[in-house]
Amino acid sequence: MSGESGAKRRSGVKQAGREQRLFVCSQCERREPKWLGRCPNCGEWNSFREVDGAAAASSRTPLAVPLTAIEADPGLRVASGNGELDRVLGGGFMRGSTTLIGGEPGVGKSTLLLQVGAKLQTAGRVLYVSAEESAEHLRLRADRLRLRAPRLEVWAGAELGDLLRLLDTARPAAVIVDSLQALTAAGSNAPPGAVNHLKEICDALTGWTHARNAITVLVAHVTKEGGIAGPKAIEHMVDVVLSFETGTAELRFLRAAKNRFGPVEEVALFEMTGRGLRQLSDPSSRFVEHADGNRPPPGVTVATIYEGSRVLCVEVQALVVPAQRSSPRIVSDRIDAGRVARIAAVLQRSVQVPFLDRDIYMNVAGGMRLRDVAADLPIALALYGARTELTPAATVAAFGEITLAGQVRCAAGAERRLRAAAGLGIRVVLAPGPVSSEPGTGWQPVANLRQAVRAALAPASAVSGTAASPAAAGR
Ligand code: TYD
Ligand code: MG
Repeated sequence: MSGESGAKRRSGVKQAGREQRLFVCSQCERREPKWLGRCPNCGEWNSFREVDGAAAASSRTPLAVPLTAIEADPGLRVASGNGELDRVLGGGFMRGSTTLIGGEPGVGKSTLLLQVGAKLQTAGRVLYVSAEESAEHLRLRADRLRLRAPRLEVWAGAELGDLLRLLDTARPAAVIVDSLQALTAAGSNAPPGAVNHLKEICDALTGWTHARNAITVLVAHVTKEGGIAGPKAIEHMVDVVLSFETGTAELRFLRAAKNRFGPVEEVALFEMTGRGLRQLSDPSSRFVEHADGNRPPPGVTVATIYEGSRVLCVEVQALVVPAQRSSPRIVSDRIDAGRVARIAAVLQRSVQVPFLDRDIYMNVAGGMRLRDVAADLPIALALYGARTELTPAATVAAFGEITLAGQVRCAAGAERRLRAAAGLGIRVVLAPGPVSSEPGTGWQPVANLRQAVRAALAPASAVSGTAASPAAAGR
């Protein structure tokens, strides 16, 4: 494959005049708006040639089709056999689609894909291209995972031309490439490691996937900053981009950064065990350390958050200490530091607790990233508790968005959030109304931050016998 053909394929439309380009198969005359490595009609490789699009267009009037006349087969989706992965994909892999899965070394990409490959064999022949590890290593891992997968085949090679020839003869229903960056294309003009080299490989594999209506999964390494190494540039070439992240200890999160066929807000939860990745059946209990009815330390509040369609209880922990330098710092991996700064500023204004000369450390038990806006209120309560060192009598859960004026705004799915907290035995849940709560959920309505800190910490005063009021504590 040449660099020129790759470049042609990437730009189906000329930028300057927005003029339509046209490629015609020299074997069967199939027309395509972009260059394809293989003709989807006659199966010939490298047969597309560009022709004069304007001349071709004038000789042939384009036809539009009514949307309702297009037949789309729902059977195109193939369940991966892994419920958590299917949740993120939106029900399984689409046939004819390419999925890129990125993650740091050691997160468990190869382990997950070997497990998934063994399950995918129900869809047909599965080829595992191991460009980094030897076939023997793969066999040892499969033994460790206790996989029985007679239709899973392994090729421990790395050259693209060899791989395309193998794909052409083996015709697998699914192919796993581990990893994309370890492949090389001998005929490429770009040197291995260059972005264009990677693009050409990705191009050829997506072309094969479309032509064969196969399922292709590409493993990619990520940089320290979390991007797919080298190319953000290849993300637009694939249909689904998943990112595999490490939580604390053995927890693993898999999210979709892009999904042409399903949601992007779902997260899959796994635990790395001695026998591979296990799906987490009771995730909330893994993200809350103080739900046992005992008094938690200061600065701990449980957030009830939506992660896609699932409600989770996640413990937010804050530590507020005198600043070590002239400019105070916010150290927060899992919650956006700008968000923490905003909430601290609102607290300072609404309930008069100063944060100006303090360093703030924020943590989320289990290492989950908090994105739900309704985590504002629990973040605020954790910060307030850490700053004042007041604690409630027992763990408090909360949800609600906070305005700059210190009002607490209602959040979607309040009933489910209340049920999730009740399921963990949490008896006090602070949230704005109105909520049609079931009896026994412990909902306490709060309209603003002042009410929230009072409701959260009043039990503490009663239990400890001190007369500390939240407002007094802030001074
Ligand atoms: P691996 O799948 O090789 O990660 P990646 O392909 O993303 O680099 O997993 C590597 C880590 O997982 C390694 O530290 C060993 C550990 N591991 C387990 O804990 N249990 C297992 O069953 C397997 C196969 C690996
Ligand atoms: Mg690996």
